[in-house]
Parts: sequence; C-alpha cells; structure tokens
Amino acid sequence: MNVLEGVRTFFRRDQVFDFLIPDIPPDLDLTHGIILYLEGISVSFDGFKAIDNLNLYIDDGELRCIIGPNGAGKTTMMDIITGKTTPDSGSAWFGQQINLLKMDEPEIAMAGIGRKFQKPTVFEHHTVIDNLELAMTGDKRMWPTLNARLSGEQRDSIDEILNIIGLQKLYQDRAGSLSHGQKQWLEIGMLLMQNPKLLLVDEPAAGMTHQEMDRTAELLTSLAGTHSVIVVEHDMDFVRSIARKVTVLHQGSVLAEGTMDEVQNDQRVIEVYLGE
Ligand SMILES: Nc1ncnc2c1ncn2[C@@H]1O[C@H](COP(=O)(O)OP(=O)(O)OP(=O)(O)O)[C@@H](O)[C@H]1O
Ligand SMILES: [Mg+2]
Repeated sequence: MNVLEGVRTFFRRDQVFDFLIPDIPPDLDLTHGIILYLEGISVSFDGFKAIDNLNLYIDDGELRCIIGPNGAGKTTMMDIITGKTTPDSGSAWFGQQINLLKMDEPEIAMAGIGRKFQKPTVFEHHTVIDNLELAMTGDKRMWPTLNARLSGEQRDSIDEILNIIGLQKLYQDRAGSLSHGQKQWLEIGMLLMQNPKLLLVDEPAAGMTHQEMDRTAELLTSLAGTHSVIVVEHDMDFVRSIARKVTVLHQGSVLAEGTMDEVQNDQRVIEVYLGE
C-alpha cells in the first residue's frame, strides 16, 4: 500500500480500528457444565516444578476439596487460576470461552472468580455492614457518600449476604471486634458482594474453633450450587464434613480423585499424605 492509499484507508469512516474496540471478555459460557478447565499446566520456580502437567476440571455448581502435603502446589494452583502466577505451559479456561491466561488479576476477578486468602483482610475500624458496602463498590473514594446512595436492590443484596454469612445481628459491630471465624465469614461475604461464579478458598478452617468450623462447613456447602467452590484444606475432619469430590495434589499434579472414602483408601495417598 502506498502512502496515499494508507492515508485514505486511515480516514475511511466505516473502518473500525482494532485498537478502538474495547477488550471485553466474552460472557461466561457454561454450556458443557464445566466452569474451570486446567489442562497440562506446568510452572517452575528456579528450576523446581511446583506444578507439573496439572489437569483439573471443575463442574458448574460443584464444591471441590483439594488436599495434599505441604508444597504440593495447592496455593500455586490458585495463583494460576487468579492470574497471580503465569504458568510456563498449559491452558486455563473459565467456562468455554474465557481464556484466563490472557487476563490479568483484576480482569479475572471482574470475570467472576473470587479468592479468599487465609488471613482475613477486613477493615477493622469499620462496621460489618460498611465492610460489605465497600466490597460492593471496591472504591474507597465512594466511602463517605456510599450509605446515602445505595439503591433498594443493593440494600437487599447486603441483607441477603448478611443472612448467608450469619452476621445479621452484628451488622453494626466493628469488624475489629469480631472473632477470627466471624471475620472469615465477613470476608466471604465481601467476596460474595462482587457476585463471583467461582470461589477459591484457601485453608478456611485454620485457627477456627470447632463450632466455627461447623458453621463454615455449612456456609461453604450452602454456596455450592449457585456458585462453584474450590476449598483447599488440611484439616481432614473439616474436609470430611463438606467433601463430595476430593482431589489429592502431590508434587504439582493430581495423584488421586474421588469421594473422601476412595481417596482415603488409596494406597498412594496413604503413602504420601494421610499416612504421615
Ligand atoms: N513465588 C514462588 N517462588 C518460588 N517458589 C515458590 C513460589 N511459590 C511457591 N513456591 C514453591 O512451590 C512449591 C509449592 O508451593 P505451594 O505454596 O503451592 O504449596 P501448597 O500445596 O499450597 O502447600 P501448603 O499446604 O504448605 O500451603 C513449594 O515448594 C513452594 O516453596
Ligand atoms: Mg498453600
């Protein structure tokens, strides 16, 4: 193309240049009933293979427990799903259409994947309800005027989430005054405010009393169905109380998968993990 043609092309009005088309990811497509595909994923840190040809499929609405020894790659797997770590090879799809490996962390969160880290990160000096409101906008500058601006629909969704996390009576309490377990539930509520379809929860039972663990088990079980939930946990009593399908990770790949009974009686699992 000569310069003149180039200039003409550039000024043609009906032409839409690629760089002007916003990069909106496609909607979540669950036509095959699978919400997450990890295929052939590997990642090395300084030559050490933390994830090694990992294949994992999570059904829409499923609650999946992931267990495995320290260093098996459980947290690294979550880092890959949420865009914190980029794998060296493999593919990661959210539904049929959303290629997670082409997105950064905020884009993945926007697309509907929420992550709960082990340590609660609530705003201690604010009330329970303020924490939920803030999570809804995610924008601190909105804070002072937020309360006045909430629509009826937004208030309803806050009420609903207060119910789900069982903190309705404590909504005006400062988050800092909550117990460890209650803070964890509040943080799950904050995640829910953003309407995730897939929730990743790393060691939710750690540091909880038995009573809190029971309540957390109920909470996570109640989220399944309307959400897909991946729970990483070491506490076997807790896992048993919520488990449907369990995946055992070992040295960065799947060692066994099945019901709790199946994996507990699997000789390889006993050797590398449960028999410790
Ligand atoms: N950013 C990193 N840089 C270097 N090594 C890392 C990094 N992240 C993870 N690793 C290593 O990868 C391996 C897997 O770690 P990961 O945290 O995923 O294990 P895990 O299954 O979550 O273990 P745990 O049950 O102890 O939480 C470990 O040997 C860890 O030291
Ligand atoms: Mg971990």
